[in-house]
Amino acid sequence: MERHITLGEFIIENQKDFPYAKGDLSALLSSIKLAGKMVNKSINKAGLAQILGKVGKENIQGESQAKMDVMANDVFISTLRNRGEICGLASEELEDYVAFEDDIHKEAKYIVLMDPLDGSSNIDVDITIGTIFSIYHRISPIGTRVTKEDFLQPGKNQVAAGYLIYGTSTILVYTTGNGVNGFTFDPGIGSFFLSHPNMKFPKEGSIYSVNEGNYIHFPKGIKKLIKWMQELDKDSNRPYTARYTGSLVADFHRNMLMGGLYLYPQGSTAPKGKLRLLYECNPMAFLTEQAGGKASDGKGRILDIIPKELHERVPFICGNSEMVVNAEKFIRENK
Ligand code: AHG
Ligand code: MN
Ligand code: MN
Ligand code: MN
Repeated sequence: MERHITLGEFIIENQKDFPYAKGDLSALLSSIKLAGKMVNKSINKAGLAQILGKVGKENIQGESQAKMDVMANDVFISTLRNRGEICGLASEELEDYVAFEDDIHKEAKYIVLMDPLDGSSNIDVDITIGTIFSIYHRISPIGTRVTKEDFLQPGKNQVAAGYLIYGTSTILVYTTGNGVNGFTFDPGIGSFFLSHPNMKFPKEGSIYSVNEGNYIHFPKGIKKLIKWMQELDKDSNRPYTARYTGSLVADFHRNMLMGGLYLYPQGSTAPKGKLRLLYECNPMAFLTEQAGGKASDGKGRILDIIPKELHERVPFICGNSEMVVNAEKFIRENK
């Protein structure tokens, strides 16, 4: 019989990728897995449990907070706080980072940044949503209180990153810098099983994902690129197919499996676009590169950007390498 590998087994097995690892990262990934299962459970019965809808408050991003945003944020923070693997956490839903300072966190060397619930606008309409996480080593000394600088590291410093996609199945996808692997949740057993080993963008893509309703606000290069993607040219598989859900996790997951280009450019009303560098773009960029793709702000590599603010936004283009290189060319040549 074929051997089914659980996420837990895979994490332990891959600890040997880190020769000096003491198992803390493995434990942290297991904590994220546990929190993900709890959020998944709430999401599946959201309508019944009356946790759909808005809280009636805005978050630091100026967005209307959904009850599920708050629920997912609370579950991840309390689960990660209750275990000793991290010394601090920053979230899309919190104004400032949180420092964990109990005795169990004294020796912790990791910090987590996260988008606890991605795709909030899709919650009430039963469309796929996700959770995105990003893990770094702290740079301040172990045993001291974490500082803002610990959270403002460039994405290339990430130790691990991933997402949970709550779709027709729930899948956890992650990388520790040694390829990307996906694990599908079996709700009957309560475990994630390796279902997508060594995920790579296919060689060619012919999907594009962008909120075309914002077309009028886009820079000239992006407008020209969109029109180019819609032209007829059999040799380059054009016209491309448009697919956009409004959940980054869902759009990214599809494009990584099928081959495609995701764009959230700047616009005349949003000079840095919408997506958050630390909670959304960096983790997705790390996964993208590990899956053989590219992630850019239109000019250069996302993972090289030195963040200045926790909630900083950045124009985001990611997907198959050739498609991203082509998008950068359109931007460069149409200023
Ligand atoms: P979040 O729900 O975490 O605030 O993220 C929403 C993001 C992202 O998931 C998605 O790609 C994008 O916003 C959609 O924005 P538009 O509705 O402007 O297209
Ligand atoms: Mn939000
Ligand atoms: Mn998001
Ligand atoms: Mn969110």
